[in-house]
Amino acid sequence: MKHLLSIEKLGREDVVGILAAAGPIKGARGNHAARPLEGQAWAMLFSKSSTRTRVSFEVGIRELGGQVMFLNANDIQLGRGEPIQDTARVLGRMVHGAVIRTFKQSDVEDFAAYSRIPTINALTDDEHPCQVLTDVFTFQEKRGSIRDRVVTFIGDGASNMAYSWIFAAARLDFELRIAAPAGYQPAPEILARAAGARVVVTEDFRAAAAGADLLYTDVWVSMGQEAQSGERLQRMAGYQINAPLVALARPDALVMHCLPAYRGKEIDAATFEAHAGTIFDQAENRLHVQKSILSWAVA
Ligand code: CP
Ligand code: NVA
Repeated sequence: MKHLLSIEKLGREDVVGILAAAGPIKGARGNHAARPLEGQAWAMLFSKSSTRTRVSFEVGIRELGGQVMFLNANDIQLGRGEPIQDTARVLGRMVHGAVIRTFKQSDVEDFAAYSRIPTINALTDDEHPCQVLTDVFTFQEKRGSIRDRVVTFIGDGASNMAYSWIFAAARLDFELRIAAPAGYQPAPEILARAAGARVVVTEDFRAAAAGADLLYTDVWVSMGQEAQSGERLQRMAGYQINAPLVALARPDALVMHCLPAYRGKEIDAATFEAHAGTIFDQAENRLHVQKSILSWAVA
């Protein structure tokens, strides 16, 4: 039984295999010979909003031959307090796999343990593994191997995105620099868990951007943190991807954003538009990489 619960729990061979298979899957779109989800029904259980993840998984599951049902957590008994363990035991008897977006990482892990069906983390407060696998795929599609390259993450260094990047660095041997203000830097416990990862954490966003191959950012206020919005926007002001920062990176540096983007906050409008080609390739690649993840999960 395979699950994609976090990049931390994925072996290097699994990461490399998922990334390698995604290219051919992308190339074969519209002409799929393989339909590994034929005869299967998958549930998508979401407690948070989504555009990209929801659409890419719904389309991807169908393109792989499966059927899919979208369950807004508030529409089922989970939203009225039924335990995740009971929800998992029910769904596990009816569907063949699940894609879950929620708050607590432990809920995704409990779902996997109790349902006994392949379970994919579609974002928790702690990790967004499908996004970072897609980002690495997109980088490698445009620039070749990410090994020994420099990835600079700017903004909320304690976010799910930053944490998935940290665990990816432990698997794929690139240098990760995280530029974030004090109080929004990765927890020491997370860095300790990413054994072997080359990670530099700093408040100096200019130093972090110097010579980078990839500049990456995410929202300053993640889903569920709306009550802290004022303080977050104030503390992270300045940690913006903009033209002066891009000028410090390598001349061919890529700029990426997982989306949704807040122009004038984590990225300025002109820089976003200048790199929109990459950013929307990233968004499209969610579909292809997740089809690779789904194929891997049921193999
Ligand atoms: N990047 C991402 O996961 O987007 P959604 O929240 O729209 O799914
Ligand atoms: N850190 C963001 C990612 C959105 C795709 C959030 O959790 O809201």
